[in-house]
Amino acid sequence: NKVVLAYSGGLDTSVIIPWLKENYGCEVVAVCCNLGQPEDYAAVEKKAIASGAVKAYIVDCREEFVSDYIWPTVKAGAVYEGKYLLGTSFARPLIAKKLVEIAKAEGADAIAHGATGKGNDQVRFELSIKALSPNTKIIAPWREWELKSREDCMAYAAKHNIPVVATKTHPYSMDQNVWHLSHEGGDLEDPANAPKSDVYLVSKSPEEAPDVPTTVEITFTEGVPTAVNGKTGTPLELLNTLNEIGAANGIGIVDIVENRLVGMKSRGVYENPGGAIIMYAHREMEYLCLDRATFHYKELVANKYAELVYDGMWFAPLMTALQAFVDATQKTVTGTVTLKLYKGNIISAGATSPYSLYNQEFVTFEEDDVYDQADAEGFINLFGLPLTINALMKEKAGL
Ligand code: ARG
Ligand code: SIN
Repeated sequence: NKVVLAYSGGLDTSVIIPWLKENYGCEVVAVCCNLGQPEDYAAVEKKAIASGAVKAYIVDCREEFVSDYIWPTVKAGAVYEGKYLLGTSFARPLIAKKLVEIAKAEGADAIAHGATGKGNDQVRFELSIKALSPNTKIIAPWREWELKSREDCMAYAAKHNIPVVATKTHPYSMDQNVWHLSHEGGDLEDPANAPKSDVYLVSKSPEEAPDVPTTVEITFTEGVPTAVNGKTGTPLELLNTLNEIGAANGIGIVDIVENRLVGMKSRGVYENPGGAIIMYAHREMEYLCLDRATFHYKELVANKYAELVYDGMWFAPLMTALQAFVDATQKTVTGTVTLKLYKGNIISAGATSPYSLYNQEFVTFEEDDVYDQADAEGFINLFGLPLTINALMKEKAGL
């Protein structure tokens, strides 16, 4: 029998290979998805084989990740608990999809992952696998084995001749892709501690950012970026351009105590330089292009959408339905937003759209002929009628 393993090249998932062979008597096929995490992928492939895998796949998922996972979430304006841009959350369903595809092609009967039993990631991997391949068995070694710490894993690796590379000094649990880099654990576990400046690996800290603002212009077509500073590119290219500009200006650092799905609160620091710019710019576009009722209703949907993504429900029917609503709202979210980036701040610097609902002739305090101020009196009388009736009742009843 054969098991397909979500493989990162790190210590934990390398140790899982001999552990699976020993405990399940299976062959292991390692699958490493390139979502934009900087990695020597040839070395990752070699390491999988050196650790005992029969085969290793490196799958470049970057364009698919941006087009089919990030952009839909941008259109939704979904942000978890007001801060977290969901970088890890929507990466898991894509990885699960690739694992399922490869498991089918390889005739494997099980899929294994290296997420711990205390986190959200196990839920996201497993719900996605269940949604796409209900009969595939799932193995989560962290919930089964006796290895409790990094030291245990190192000892197990040594015993099984797994090559252990000298560990980086960065003492945090990280997850990186083209949208974000997360840091958890270490001294961040105490929310009283400010992140030390060596936490940031992608972004400059605001203090280190240039003393003059950078102006950037983002063009949107139907709710997604299609050019930066007038230059078009693939979704991945556009995101990478904005990542560079944002990182240089200390944009998109998020520090949050978030509610995990599995019950406890956890503290995370996230770097989303391009993501923060895109989310901000997209919202600027919507201020101009969405009518009031749609805009307000969409905020409710965004909240629910974020919760579903966080909870690993990417492939749930409700997601499909909410996405259809979101997509319908984005037909006119087209135009250009200019922003000033300055030491961690994003400052609006103008927006235009051929579908703008903003009309200077209607809003002006000068005389106009589309709005008759006398109409307002009747509107207020009827809109306020429930308040009037309630007040009359209270007066009569002596409340
Ligand atoms: N707390 C974030 C989330 O639940 C980030 C998780 C990071 N995952 C990791 N394996 N380091 O989405
Ligand atoms: C893990 O426990 O595997 C990472 C953290 C999380 O999933 O929330």
